[in-house]
Amino acid sequence: MALSATDRALVRALWKKLGNNVGVYATEALERTFLAFPSTKTYFPHFDLRPGSAQVKAHGQKVADALTLAVDHLDDLPGALSALSDLHARELRVDPANFQLLGQCLLVTLARHFPGDFSPALHASLDKFLSHAISALASKYR
Ligand code: HEM
Repeated sequence: MALSATDRALVRALWKKLGNNVGVYATEALERTFLAFPSTKTYFPHFDLRPGSAQVKAHGQKVADALTLAVDHLDDLPGALSALSDLHARELRVDPANFQLLGQCLLVTLARHFPGDFSPALHASLDKFLSHAISALASKYR
């Protein structure tokens, strides 16, 4: 189902609230993913994955920038994430099932930091946004 005007408005408002801290939350979401779903760590054998790792923090910032780009292109998520989809599919060969795990961890991370904002409506809109972004990221896997 396409993102409604309400979905877009809620996601944009949350992103505005996150401001310059998207990287902080994306890093926490990555750390949570590695802890909750340890098989995801197998894609990062070259990383120091200990809590507080500078490498994970730098990677979290890259993931955050990609998500912010997606929020800025809600009308064309496949276009905005096309190069990244190519990279994950053809070079990194990440099983796309893992995208859901990171998406879920991001949702939980944001809900924990912004409990007052996390109405069922925001939950649903953010979930929809993440599903669309994830399917755009998975689009080159054919
Ligand atoms: C690299 C975004 C999910 C594995 C990257 C980069 C970005 C990114 C922006 C850096 C690309 C570059 O340097 O040009 C995302 C987004 C995701 C996602 C937005 C989902 C919402 C995942 C998942 C995994 C994964 C779930 C594996 C469990 C990797 C790996 C790299 C990478 C191994 C290369 C890291 C390195 O060697 O520097 N991703 N990613 N990604 N991603 Fe993802």
